Amino acid sequence: MATERTLSIIKPDAVAKNAIGEIESRFEKAGLKIVAAKMLQLSQEQAEGFYAEHSERPFFGALVGFMTSGPVVVQVLEGENAIAANRDLMGATNPKEAEAGTIRADFAESIDANAVHGSDSPESAAREIAYFFEDSEICSR
Ligand code: PPS
Repeated sequence: MATERTLSIIKPDAVAKNAIGEIESRFEKAGLKIVAAKMLQLSQEQAEGFYAEHSERPFFGALVGFMTSGPVVVQVLEGENAIAANRDLMGATNPKEAEAGTIRADFAESIDANAVHGSDSPESAAREIAYFFEDSEICSR
């Protein structure tokens, strides 16, 4: 199995619920290491750039508005098959379809406010990690 890194975001709804610790705990209990982390208030420009691939989607404005509605925690998770492992922990994009026990089933209210983001491929992970972190800010261990 390959050791990978993935970009994770705890979104404004989960931060507002004081759920940062419980979500981080799920990553750590699953064997993923938090090798970089910071809390940010995203600007409109930062959110639009991060989600640029969705700029033509009808929900783009709502997504950017939500992601700039309060602070987020951006972090790099490292571990065996970290990209898929994180997405398994997150559950389906729409929390109504998320399996019981997943982060979105437990903390998300709707597809608009769905608690967490995780990279969906090695290419996305590389781009998304570089979007928020310099190499020197990542402490591999
Ligand atoms: S895709 O086609 O698989 O890339 O799209 P998807 O993963 O379903 O969604 C991409 C991101 O857009 C968010 N999303 C929405 N936001 C607001 N309103 C609606 N209706 C909506 N549908 C999808 C979704 O949460 C994804 O955000 P991230 O941060 O990538 O999880």
